[in-house]
Amino acid sequence: MSDEMRVRRPARLRGTIAIPGDKSVTHRAIMFNSIAAGDARIDGFLDAADTRSTLECMRALGAEIEDLGGGVLVVHGRGRGGLHEADNVLDCGNSGTTMRLLTGLVSGLPMLSVLTGDDSLRRRPMARVVRPLAQLGAEITARAAGTLPPVVVQGGPLRGGQRVDTAVASAQVKSALLLAGLAADGPTTVSEPSASRDHTERMLAAMGAGIATVEDGGRHVVTLTPPATDLVAVDVTVPGDISTAAVWMVLASLHPDAELTLMNVGINPTRTGLLDILWGMGADITLIEERVTGGEPVADLRVRSARLKGIEVGGELVPRAIDELPLVALAGALAEGETLIRDAEELRVKESDRVASTAAVLRAFGAEVEERPDGMLVRGGATLHAGSAESRGDHRLAMLGAAAGVLADGVSTIVGGGAVVVSYPEFWEELLRLQAAEGAVSR
Ligand code: S3P
Repeated sequence: MSDEMRVRRPARLRGTIAIPGDKSVTHRAIMFNSIAAGDARIDGFLDAADTRSTLECMRALGAEIEDLGGGVLVVHGRGRGGLHEADNVLDCGNSGTTMRLLTGLVSGLPMLSVLTGDDSLRRRPMARVVRPLAQLGAEITARAAGTLPPVVVQGGPLRGGQRVDTAVASAQVKSALLLAGLAADGPTTVSEPSASRDHTERMLAAMGAGIATVEDGGRHVVTLTPPATDLVAVDVTVPGDISTAAVWMVLASLHPDAELTLMNVGINPTRTGLLDILWGMGADITLIEERVTGGEPVADLRVRSARLKGIEVGGELVPRAIDELPLVALAGALAEGETLIRDAEELRVKESDRVASTAAVLRAFGAEVEERPDGMLVRGGATLHAGSAESRGDHRLAMLGAAAGVLADGVSTIVGGGAVVVSYPEFWEELLRLQAAEGAVSR
């Protein structure tokens, strides 16, 4: 695939899209079943660069994982004792989730692990897991005074009875600590300013760990009590990823003549911030056939064109929509009135600085965006014109640029479009398919 993609606006957007498996759930299903006892079947896993990083790291640690094809993996777990020291560094690629969760997991394994990643990942903050894991007793260090990858961990038994209060609501940090807590000699408590995604808690509870969650003094507090024996393997049916569905939700809402049906989308309440935001802006999105699959709520989504109005997004909505905020900014540019995104300083330390990169992409199409330290202010009512946008190697920015290009007048170019392989390898084909009648995307 050429890395430079050209897009233009089709007259109509109609169709049904099968949404690929959830990235967060896939990482966890592979990782947790690799340290559990028993065989587990993972159906509908996300086959993308990030989740392949987790798969290969777990194999390097001795996990036996079969790819049966057709979106099915089988993990043959032999408990934590079934893993062994890797004979090379663990390459987490572009994946922050792989690196942070795995750092927590290997902290409790009696072996040396060195974790590294690509240029983007080696710029991302690690002190947020290195410091609290050291509090649990892990022997752990990292480059730049414990702040940046590579990370080096000499794992072993950990201290129980610890409580960690995190400064940001981060599922990666919470999950790293809960995974380390599996090797502690007592319960481990993590408190966060508001609830981040809870896939780890759901899956570990289903595998036999004790999980208790309370709201306490305005904080979301999770306590893990390690099971007396190994975790028990569980089959996982992976729901579609709402963060992937997001690009179609926003595109169909903003396009003047659209109706898309998005199949099998995970609607775990810790992930549905974008739905709440779009409904708040006046979007026409209907949930069809709500059901529960593999312990996670899912539904099909019908999204139709709507006239949106600006919105203010902050507080507990931010962790519930963190990866979708660039798309919220695009919605804001075409809505009536202003859209303010605040309390979102975390955007600055994602695969790119997503405040700066979102502003740059949207400006390339003529939108007016003012950067703030903790988010951005977007002026609504823009008429987008053709532009050339750079993904900066960030998969979500490649899709943001594509969506803006599809909504703009004329032919737009997305440089670095190949970055979509990180979370949605079929993205361009799907867009081509939707626009085939118009021939509106070209390579
Ligand atoms: C993720 C948590 C979020 C999110 C990331 C996936 C996870 O990161 O941005 O894409 O699977 O736990 P933070 O925990 O850093 O907010």
